[in-house]
Amino acid sequence: MFGFDYDNKKILLTNLNGKIYATDRICTHAEADLSNGILTEEGITCPLHLSVFNLETGMPQNGPAEKPLSTYNVKIEQNEIYVEVD
Ligand code: FES
Repeated sequence: MFGFDYDNKKILLTNLNGKIYATDRICTHAEADLSNGILTEEGITCPLHLSVFNLETGMPQNGPAEKPLSTYNVKIEQNEIYVEVD
């Protein structure tokens, strides 16, 4: 996992089984930093109250979080990772 800031957005890059995902880095429940969370096959687990977010859709799989994370398109070219941020 790798977190970075860009243009007031806090982004989390994750590598799950060789696929790179980009989502918001801040939990939609109580603003925990997901880069301190746990990455599993189910997604990223929030370190504060343990909601698990799907990396593809950003949807929480369990409470207490109810709102999804924003997700961003990722492109890899010549070993460089590009994230499409609106
Ligand atoms: S801050 Fe993430 S589930 Fe509460």
